[in-house]
This record gives sequence, structure tokens and C-alpha cells, in this order.
Amino acid sequence: MTNAGALPQARAAGLREAQAAFLGVHPEYADTAGIDEVRARDFGRLDALGHVYLDYTGSGLYAASQVRRHSELLLGRVFGNPHSTNPTSIESTRLLERCRRHVLEFFGADTGEYAVVFTANASQALKLVGESYPFEPGDQFLLTFDNHNSVNGIREFDRAHGARTLYLPMVPPELRVDEAVLERFLAAAIPGGHNLFAYPAQSNFSGVQHPLDWIARAQAKGWDVLLDAAAFVPTNRLDLGRWHPDFVALSFYKMFGYPTGVGALLARKPALARLHRPWFAGGTINVASVQADRFVLAPGAPGFEDGTPDFTNIPAVELGLELMESIGVERIHERVGLLCGWLIEELLSLRHANGRPLVGLYGPRTSERRGGILAMNFHDASGRVIDHQLVERSAGERGISLRTGCFCNPGAGEVALGLTRQEIETCFAAGQSAMTYDDLRRCIDPHEAGAVRVSLGLVSNFADVYAFQEYARGLLES
Ligand SMILES: Cc1ncc(COP(=O)(O)O)c(C=O)c1O
Repeated sequence: MTNAGALPQARAAGLREAQAAFLGVHPEYADTAGIDEVRARDFGRLDALGHVYLDYTGSGLYAASQVRRHSELLLGRVFGNPHSTNPTSIESTRLLERCRRHVLEFFGADTGEYAVVFTANASQALKLVGESYPFEPGDQFLLTFDNHNSVNGIREFDRAHGARTLYLPMVPPELRVDEAVLERFLAAAIPGGHNLFAYPAQSNFSGVQHPLDWIARAQAKGWDVLLDAAAFVPTNRLDLGRWHPDFVALSFYKMFGYPTGVGALLARKPALARLHRPWFAGGTINVASVQADRFVLAPGAPGFEDGTPDFTNIPAVELGLELMESIGVERIHERVGLLCGWLIEELLSLRHANGRPLVGLYGPRTSERRGGILAMNFHDASGRVIDHQLVERSAGERGISLRTGCFCNPGAGEVALGLTRQEIETCFAAGQSAMTYDDLRRCIDPHEAGAVRVSLGLVSNFADVYAFQEYARGLLES
């Protein structure tokens, strides 16, 4: 159940004792023991190489069996470019279409309702919506402060078409949205206009899970809803039989590590039909003519898949889905929630000898309505923030992979760190167009200009969170 065997004796004893205490409080953790078997069997390299992996929101990890099964598939068949009707092409098309159906099934989506557009990643799925949404002057793009930059970037498309960008604020310290404020924003939909509302099902900064019931509420008021599910779906069930967002963006490598370079836009068919692609390409058209200067876009998903799809890697998505299905999303969810709750309690209990807290956690301080992502800064005994880049380096020296910075989510970061618009504008004005992240950090000082993030996932275990807690404890001053 632990990898205590690989540790020096004293540490191994500490780990065993802590785990026994944890199991005493959370006997239900034992129901997730199957994940330890999967880890031993299929992710053995993690412990063999001594990695403590705590960056699942950066990327999921792949099982050895996914890679093995994929290479067997590739070596045992001949796949040709799917845009044809020869036998090897038909074989590729068959697997692509089977994968599309499997993705819909995995998310409980009705095949009559949703289409799967394969993309390179979640960012490309988001860009497809942004560049194709029929924004016109007077239309609105509403989004939470708490969003990845690949959602923030859609504002450039709405503005180019004369539409307005509206940002829904977050309330510290929980970093959630005030429901009354949300209601006011939603009520401001322009009747008969194009209103697009985008938010993450789970924040990649704080781990906050924004309610999925916003989807139907927003739609009832006239909004199309774009759900960024990239950080949510690796450890949570997204049931598209129950929730019906117009668009969902995700990356498969975040769910199960392999293949990289494949994501999806899941779109309700009527919503997809309302999008206008700004160009056409090979693969996206039924017909095109040079002399007649005309083209007819292919209906549905193919009209959004530019050029040749990644036909050797997309079939590997099914192998990842099968891995998650064999473990059970609910089981992964349960384990991550329990480990995350334990880690929060431990981190918040750490105090320097003078009583000052070591850890400043951003976002919820319990495991309620949140996922397994924790953003924090460490403070020395005088209360000063320990530079997050130093933390990344020293944790790395202990084999811990975590992430620091603002995780491409500047809105949540700015609210969490208490940065004002004026301060940031001043820095941008001073830095001009060549400003780098380090310039911004230096400018914003003495505030902390970033945070430390640990995130749990598919095969996280108690030893992982224990190792991080142990690392944190090592930062305490006596
Ligand atoms: C919430 C969220 N949305 C979008 C993305 C972008 O994903 P990708 O880089 O795979 O396009 C990420 C990546 O971390 C994310 O966490």
C-alpha cells in the first residue's frame, strides 16, 4: 500500500505510522486499494525512480499498459490517411469513429445530442469556439476571473467583432463566485444576441469546483455555455446525460498521460451548427472550387478538424479511457478527495516555533466542493513569503515534481495574491511589450507574485502526500 520499503528506516516508520492514523480516521480509503495495485503493476517506474509526482494538473501520467497496447496496435495493423476510401484508410476511419463513440459513452453523452471534435489539446478546442462563435457588436462574452489563459484569450476574438468582455469576480479567501453577483450578470444577457459564458468546472489554480448547475441556469437566461473541463475530468465524473453545456473543452493527456497532442471539443450539435468557421482547410470541406470561388463546409465535427487528424494517436485515447473505466472515476475521485483533505489539515497545522503559520493556502480550507489541487505559499518565521522558485528547486532536489507561478490563470492568481488592477497596469506600462514573467515578478515585489501548486491524480497515494508534508515540515524554523 505504501512504498515505504524504498525509504530509510526512520522515514518509513513515520510514513507507516501516519498512514495507519489516516486509515483509522478514513477507513473508506481502503476501498480505493485497487489503485495501489494498478500503481504497482502499471506505474512501477514512478516508485522505482523515486519520483513524488504532484503535478497531475500539469499532466496526467500514463500506464505502461497503455503504451504497450498502443504499440501492439500500431505494429499489428496498417493505418493510412483517413481521408480516402482505400483499405488502410478505412481502417483508420473505423478506429477514429469508434474512438468518438467511446468518448461520448465515457461522458454519458447522447450520440444524438453531442459531437466530438478531435483537437490538439484543450486550448485548441477553446480557440475553435472563440474564433467561430458568431460575435457581433453588442454581443457579450462573460467569463470568471478564475480561468486558464486559453479561455481568457477568447476575449481577443469577441473584441475583434465589437462584442463586450465581462469578467465575473471571485471572492477571497474561498475564491468562489458570489451567487447573487452571478445572477445579476446572467440576467444581463442580451435578448436575441449572442451571449457566451465560459467557466472552468474546476479551477486549475485553487481546485475550486464551480457549480455545474450554473449551466442550465445560464442557458435559461440566454447564454451559450462553454465549460472548460480540462482540470476537472481527470478525477471527476462529468455526466453529459445530466449536464448539458453547449461546449466542453478537454485534453486527454491530463486525464491519463498518453497520448499527448490529442484533446477534444465536445459540442451540442445545434450549438456547433451555430458556429462559423473563419476559414476552410483540407478535411473540413465537402467541396471547394478555385474557379467558382466557393466551398461547402463538411457538416458536424469534420468541419472543425483541420487537415489530417492524428490518426495513429487518437486510437490510443480509447486505451486511456479503458484504464480509467477499469479503475472507476468515482474511486479516483474518492481517493483524491481523502488525500487532499489530509494534506490540507496537515499543512495548515504546521507552525513555526513562534506560532506563525508556515503555509498560506489560497482557496477553500476544506475538501468540500473542491478537487485535488492546492495552491499555497510558504512563509518564514517572520511571515515573509519564501520565493516559490526556491521552493520548486528545493522540492525538486527531493524528487518532488510540483508547479509554481500562476499556472496560466492570472485572474485567480491576482485575486488570491491581492494584486490590484492599478499595480498590475503600472507594471505593464513600465515593462512595455517585451515584459517577461520575471519582470512582472520583480515589479510586483514585495507581494508574492506567484504560488506553489500541488495536484493529485489517477495513481496518487498516501506516500505522495506524506512526502510533501514532510518536505513542508522541513521548512519550519525552530
Ligand atoms: C483548466 C485548464 N484549462 C485549459 C488548459 C489548457 O490545456 P492544454 O495546455 O492541454 O491546452 C489547462 C492546462 O493546464 C487547464 O488546467
